[in-house]
Amino acid sequence: MNPDPTPATAPGAGDRTVLVGVSGGIAIYKAVELVRRLAKEGFDPLVVETEAARRFVMPLTFAAVAQSAVLDDDTAWQASGGWFQHIEAARQARVMVVAPATANTLAKMAAGIADNLLTATYLAFRGPVIVAPTMNWAMYEHPATQANLAQLAARGVEVLATERGDLACGEEGSGRMAAPEAIVSAVRRAFARRSAGPLAGRRVVVTAGGTRERIDAVRFIGNLSSGKMGRAVADEAYLRGANVLLVTTKEQDAVPYEVKLVESADEMAAAVTQATGSADVLVMTAAVADFKPRTADQGKIERAERASLTLELVPTVDILSAAARPGLVRVGFAAEAGPRLARARAKKAAKGVDLLVFNDILAAGVGIGSDENEITIIADDGETHVPRAAKRVCAAAIADAVERVLEVRA
Ligand SMILES: Cc1cc2nc3c(=O)[nH]c(=O)nc-3n(C[C@H](O)[C@H](O)[C@H](O)COP(=O)(O)O)c2cc1C
Repeated sequence: MNPDPTPATAPGAGDRTVLVGVSGGIAIYKAVELVRRLAKEGFDPLVVETEAARRFVMPLTFAAVAQSAVLDDDTAWQASGGWFQHIEAARQARVMVVAPATANTLAKMAAGIADNLLTATYLAFRGPVIVAPTMNWAMYEHPATQANLAQLAARGVEVLATERGDLACGEEGSGRMAAPEAIVSAVRRAFARRSAGPLAGRRVVVTAGGTRERIDAVRFIGNLSSGKMGRAVADEAYLRGANVLLVTTKEQDAVPYEVKLVESADEMAAAVTQATGSADVLVMTAAVADFKPRTADQGKIERAERASLTLELVPTVDILSAAARPGLVRVGFAAEAGPRLARARAKKAAKGVDLLVFNDILAAGVGIGSDENEITIIADDGETHVPRAAKRVCAAAIADAVERVLEVRA
């Protein structure tokens, strides 16, 4: 967010203009997809290209997918409707997103340099700003770039995480631009204007997926958890303005917030312990193994010459209980085989959590692996039943309950 969040002119209720600043990075091909998706979702993308960006992709391409004229440094010198282009563009837009955001453009934004239409418009804009950095890993990790990103974040600009992987320069590392879908989620959140509730600005740690407990180098004890419920809770917290960390055993696509991939209960416990030191909320949606093999064979256990195989299992760490500390809102899940609400209530008391979400894994069409769930949220002051519904709807009810706890504590 730029320092003064009040738009220069109040936009109409139907105003869906998104200013898309495009600078000269090789990930610009993803910006074409971003603009197409924004238009498809009913936003009005207004594209501003830098001179370097124009060398990669001609304005005609963006104009075709945005179905509107593209602004660049040539058009900047033409008056429009009595306003200069940078002021007019800043007045029209509700949200600004810079994707790809080059090291150069980020540096200019951090320093307040306004020597092209994109950066001048940024300075003139009052509203939520999102940047999607992308560059070679060494450029990204350079202290100058990191300082610029920190500076922008401190001013309220939402800096989307880069992805690790193969880079266009032929090297591997951090620096790939966030996926267009993740950027659209960030834009949606900025438009939702729901970032003023109790979850706004809170650090929320969500766990998801089933853990894998190694038996040997290739085998494990696991469970059927898909991680979808946790992803839905993390998405909902993000939409409400939270600073989210998703600790999960499942690879995630198109996530606008931080993700930490783990495998076993021990790894998840370590990630949660580290993250909850400074967190406000912990939602333990993950299906963590209750037991793990006492030892894991470093090689591969062979079948030959064995009549049977006995594994000795020992309990895993109780992550939810271990994370308890004053000020941390803890949410547990009780997946019970049957309508055992009384057991869930007892579990809430035993673990001393703020909220316990009960679901019956044997109920038809809901729960593990499914896109739907049916839950009962047990709080200190009562219970909320959410009849069979999309996990997104259940996640919203859980977020409502967390917000109530935060409000009571405030
Ligand atoms: C082929 C090519 C690819 C480039 N890719 C990137 C990139 O991914 N990220 C980046 O920060 N700069 C990249 N650059 C460098 C920028 O284009 C250069 O710094 C330029 O001045 C950026 O201008 P702008 O920020 O006004 O668009 C690339 C340059 C070339 C020639």
